[in-house]
Amino acid sequence: MTYKNIDVYTLIKPEILKLRNIGIETANLDCRLLLSETLDRYEAIYNHQNIYISENEIKKFQNLIQQRVSGKPVSRIINKRSFWKKEFDLNDATLDPRSDSETLVESVIEYYPNKLEFLKIIDLGSGTGCLGLSLLDEYSCSEASFFDTSQKSLEMVKKNAQNFDFLERSKFINLDWNVRDWDKKLMKFENNMKYDIAISNPPYIPTNDIKTLRKEVKKYDPFIALNGGKDGLDSYRSIFSKLTNIVKSDGKIFIEIGKGQENNITKIAIKHGLFPKEYKKDLSGVTRVIIFVIK
Ligand SMILES: C[S@@+](CC[C@H](N)C(=O)[O-])C[C@H]1O[C@@H](n2cnc3c(N)ncnc32)[C@H](O)[C@@H]1O
Repeated sequence: MTYKNIDVYTLIKPEILKLRNIGIETANLDCRLLLSETLDRYEAIYNHQNIYISENEIKKFQNLIQQRVSGKPVSRIINKRSFWKKEFDLNDATLDPRSDSETLVESVIEYYPNKLEFLKIIDLGSGTGCLGLSLLDEYSCSEASFFDTSQKSLEMVKKNAQNFDFLERSKFINLDWNVRDWDKKLMKFENNMKYDIAISNPPYIPTNDIKTLRKEVKKYDPFIALNGGKDGLDSYRSIFSKLTNIVKSDGKIFIEIGKGQENNITKIAIKHGLFPKEYKKDLSGVTRVIIFVIK
């Protein structure tokens, strides 16, 4: 096989223009990420670096660019997304982790500054496991249970846990919080040991709003990870109704919410014996996480 020695920018410039012409603002970065994927490289590729690339690899790169042109997000083409301090593998059953959700990880760290503390954590609706696994990364003595109704997403959490060497501190629980007595089933699985911390980023988009989301979201994120029912709050009702049965009385609950949902979610929480301790904003200034304690 013959290899070409070429400057990265010379190779990607026509592809950058293709992506820019259809309004993709991150065209240069996207091209370099897709080139890294083509060449199986983990390290960053820079514009003015020389690389060796074969004809077949150039074809593969152009095919990935074509997928991007058709509207597929880079994370879905390469099935990877960086979150907090790690790179998470994705599949079509997992939400593509959002950087706004890092607000939740930050909030836990603020409340639990001792990184050597043993914390028993439950991640309700775990997706890729980005929240719970990031906490296992921060708290090296802690354990997390990953709870999701999607078996296929749990397989992805398991793969990520394995990649990060966290398998021994992880449990994977295939349950549905719409099923009556899900709390009892969960506690049976945990030998009645309650959690210090519950975290959740549940689906919170009102069903009718899903069709108005950007194509990259509505087409590639799983419906079940987005759909919060008629008013977007169904998952909060199901989860909050059981939290006092699964979280220790001195435990804390960290919940991600959608824009403008804080008042309604607080009302549901109070009805179920939870008290809002603090509201945290994300980098755009939107209230993104509520921290609850048990009354
Ligand atoms: C918004 S995604 C969050 C995923 C991940 N925690 C994150 O922050 O990227 C919500 C997750 O809840 C799960 N889920 C939806 N309905 C559920 C239910 N009834 N019971 C358990 N998990 C559910 C979905 O499969 C999805 O993984």
